[in-house]
Amino acid sequence: MTEIEKLNNKMEIETIKAFNKKVVTGNGPLQADIVLIGEAPGANEQAQGIPFVGKAGQNLNEVLKKAGIEREKVYITNTVKIRPTKISDKTGKDINRPPNRKELDFFVPFLYEEINIIEPKIIVTLGNFPLKYVSENQNRVIGSCHGVMTNTNICGKEYKLFPMYHPASVIYNRQLFDIYVADWIKLGEIIRKGI
Ligand code: URA
Repeated sequence: MTEIEKLNNKMEIETIKAFNKKVVTGNGPLQADIVLIGEAPGANEQAQGIPFVGKAGQNLNEVLKKAGIEREKVYITNTVKIRPTKISDKTGKDINRPPNRKELDFFVPFLYEEINIIEPKIIVTLGNFPLKYVSENQNRVIGSCHGVMTNTNICGKEYKLFPMYHPASVIYNRQLFDIYVADWIKLGEIIRKGI
């Protein structure tokens, strides 16, 4: 069994006990140079067991293509590995909500272990949630640090960190979308020059 399989097994067992939900584990090559970290799975991701396969995933695929980055070469995961839901007042059905304290406290240590197993050259955070937990400075917000490479230390190991807006946050905002695409193109150029 690989290190990541051991980690995922442990996470699956503990998640069932703590939340009675199935986890959506990270996906992609274990030797990837780049790790993308989202917030948490949505309904489509939960149904398929793969991160970023719904609407935000389509947006991500398009922007990766524009940046000349192959999705198959990137490892993609989430800060929280279960779908955070609440009951909609209108429909009575499950809808997405932001991850809560209990979910973050539970899943962030697994995220750190996962990163330290993959040991990527660059960590790309998508939105504020992963940025907060992967940065050494917990007060950083995406609006003031997107598209700029810095360094971060996770459990004693140094990584390059490139914060991006979350794909779902730019879908309906044309101005932000253009900035987001420019950031991805910049990252693609950095990667092609050699990390
Ligand atoms: N948004 C995320 O942050 N992660 C997913 O896997 C899907 C949507």
